[in-house]
Amino acid sequence: MAKTVHAQPTPSMALDENAIASAARERLHDGAVTPSIAPYAKDICKLLNDALATEWVCVLRYRRHYFTAKGIASEPIAAEFLVHANEELSHADRLAERIVQLGGEPMLDPDSLKARSHADYDESLDLKAMIRANLVAERIAVEVYRQLIALIGDKDPSTTHLLRAILADEEEHADDLSDWLDKS
Ligand SMILES: [Fe+2]
Ligand SMILES: [Fe+2]
Repeated sequence: MAKTVHAQPTPSMALDENAIASAARERLHDGAVTPSIAPYAKDICKLLNDALATEWVCVLRYRRHYFTAKGIASEPIAAEFLVHANEELSHADRLAERIVQLGGEPMLDPDSLKARSHADYDESLDLKAMIRANLVAERIAVEVYRQLIALIGDKDPSTTHLLRAILADEEEHADDLSDWLDKS
């Protein structure tokens, strides 16, 4: 007599709805500060606030140079200063946004910006001196972002992702200035 073969039930391919619902509840509660970031959030905000001060000093220095660079020969360089100034402002805004997401406050008190900035302000009137001052500041920015990426790393991947994007811009700025310095 032939054996009755019972068909095996098809394995379920449904998602775990309970796990999804509880993930949503956790995320609502935690915001950007997940439990793995929480122990570092305060220190990361402090580091990002010093980078924020640096970006603002760079905005001011580039804008000052943009308005004070004189002569036809300086026009394309001044235009580049303005492009960089606007990109530094975008970096500043993205850092401020991340600081708030991490539960901190962006420190934009003008009295403290210069002291906390890693790079210097500069009022050179000579075009070559301007380019040189900006190149020094960009090299400082590159080093600062490299160190921040190494320090923060996997502790806060979203911040590290942001810092990598900013670092790429700073490396490009340094290359641009290095080319201008050779040409001028
Ligand atoms: Fe920047
Ligand atoms: Fe830059």
